[in-house]
Amino acid sequence: AKKTRVFSGMQPSGELHLGNYVGALQHWVARQDESDNIFCIVDLHALTIPEQIDARALHDNARKLAALYLASGLDPERNLIFIQSHVREHSELAWILNCATPLGWLQRMTQFKSKAQQFESTGTGLLIYPALQAADILLYDTDAVPVGEDQRQHIELTRDIAIRFHRLFGEVFKLPVAVIPEVGARVMGLDDPETKMSKSLAVTRPGHAINLLDDEKTIRKAIMSAVTDSGRETRFAHASPGVRNLLSIYQALTREPMSAVEATFAGQGYGALKKALVEVVWETLRPLQARYHEIMADRAGLEAVLTRGAERAREIASATMQRVRDATGV
Ligand code: ADP
Ligand code: NA
Repeated sequence: AKKTRVFSGMQPSGELHLGNYVGALQHWVARQDESDNIFCIVDLHALTIPEQIDARALHDNARKLAALYLASGLDPERNLIFIQSHVREHSELAWILNCATPLGWLQRMTQFKSKAQQFESTGTGLLIYPALQAADILLYDTDAVPVGEDQRQHIELTRDIAIRFHRLFGEVFKLPVAVIPEVGARVMGLDDPETKMSKSLAVTRPGHAINLLDDEKTIRKAIMSAVTDSGRETRFAHASPGVRNLLSIYQALTREPMSAVEATFAGQGYGALKKALVEVVWETLRPLQARYHEIMADRAGLEAVLTRGAERAREIASATMQRVRDATGV
């Protein structure tokens, strides 16, 4: 039987944090043999906030993100890894999908609404980027998109755009579904368990996130000062949001059932949970960081992976674009 086609991606905008790892990367790695995987570095999406862009930094960040994919355990032989802008079909299909997307659908996206509030002037790209994301996914006849909870709405929009396109021009695309992990789909900020751990907040708030390249001391400090409460409740269902967040991260990284995690920390204070979590996080990140530095030391090897990835991606994408051209007449 044909394997499930999986597509997902991340923006090369700053460092990855533990939420990106637990909510997405860890699952990509765990299932790399089960499915036929395509993992993209979506640099065009990083342009949606042009005020934050520095050309050299964006170029470097795309390579660093690729190195983090590999360092996390994605094998370039078993996964297709490439940079979005290297495959022109993404921009081409995005334009056509934009024409098929009602404006109101884009204006309703919660990520647009919250990001538009954060910045003084909003570029059109910030509004229409979910149509580019739809193009990313639909170009590869994707069955499943493994993402964190925050992306659910965009994957549903991708389906809606495909369905509308089909009504207008005829059947062309496969309809994808979002695959959201049961554990770790929404890692919260360590400094504020009411907000999602995010790259943009991590920049201005030390202690908000753990970045994948943080040293042990920084990790220890962030976890030991994570917001909890004044009690000793470590049963997940009864715990406060900050404690639940720590338990969930612990569970995701150890892959133990929550009942086992609860048993480990029963009757102990939050200090014990935090100390154990520091160990588990560092056990995960120390080898990841060692691999990352090795990969970054061989830039030619990394470029070769990305060049080959783009070539293979283009083969699939151009075949889909031909169907789109036939359907639309362009
Ligand atoms: P960010 O939201 O930090 O800018 P991206 O939008 O690039 O990160 O998201 C990359 C992937 O990481 C997506 O699959 C997204 O759902 C996932 N992700 C981002 N933040 C979190 C989080 N706090 N918890 C779980 N998954 C997350
Ligand atoms: Na996100």
